[in-house]
Amino acid sequence: MAEFIPYCHHSISDQEQHERASAFYELCQRRRTVREFSDRPVAREVLELILKTAGTAPSGANKQPWRFIVVTEPQLKREIRSAAEAVERESYEHRMPQEWLDDLAGLGTDWHKEFLETAPALIAVFSILYTQEGARSRKNYYVKESVGIAVGFLLAAIHNAGLVALTHTPSPMDFLQKFLQRPENEKPFLLIPVGYPKEGAKVPNIHRKPIEETVVWR
Ligand SMILES: Cc1cc2nc3c(=O)[nH]c(=O)nc-3n(C[C@H](O)[C@H](O)[C@H](O)COP(=O)(O)O)c2cc1C
Repeated sequence: MAEFIPYCHHSISDQEQHERASAFYELCQRRRTVREFSDRPVAREVLELILKTAGTAPSGANKQPWRFIVVTEPQLKREIRSAAEAVERESYEHRMPQEWLDDLAGLGTDWHKEFLETAPALIAVFSILYTQEGARSRKNYYVKESVGIAVGFLLAAIHNAGLVALTHTPSPMDFLQKFLQRPENEKPFLLIPVGYPKEGAKVPNIHRKPIEETVVWR
């Protein structure tokens, strides 16, 4: 039986609404994916708050089908870097079609993944496909959508805390399952180094689509 509680709505004036929407947009539009990290550590309490923020995301049937593994151990980061570089080297040199390589050319990426060792923390995000309850397995719903939304909250929280992140997808990512000892029902989704930018870090000069191109009003 569902139990209901009063929804706690914080009412704000039209002016405050405009100011807050504008301030949040200004904050988000300054977010960039950073690929050059400093090794300056991040307080565990801050990482915990960021991860708690990710956990406030909506999810299909409220299954919250996400797991965040935070890696700070230097040896484990080294092993992850080495495995990621091996699969990425294969991808860049043999697996990616020319069209994909052309699309990446403007970002200046290659198979070297130094940031996996330099960033103070790597957040490995796993999707939980089903939950095992004794002999019975219970399915989760809209797992990709749910975990994707949680990662959106996570990236916004990282940026809001004055930190930077890289949404990384070493492909294939199966090695993370073994290295991080995750059970069969958890599958790697993204690997996100978090920390501070290296002094003088640069980012590619990309452009965001104007709203006229992405929004249709009816
Ligand atoms: C699902 C996803 C996968 C990505 N994978 C990689 C990756 O493996 N390596 C990388 O350097 N950047 C990766 N990126 C970062 C994108 O290249 C970056 O978000 C995009 O160029 C826009 O730049 P911005 O984040 O600075 O706005 C990924 C982003 C997303 C959303």
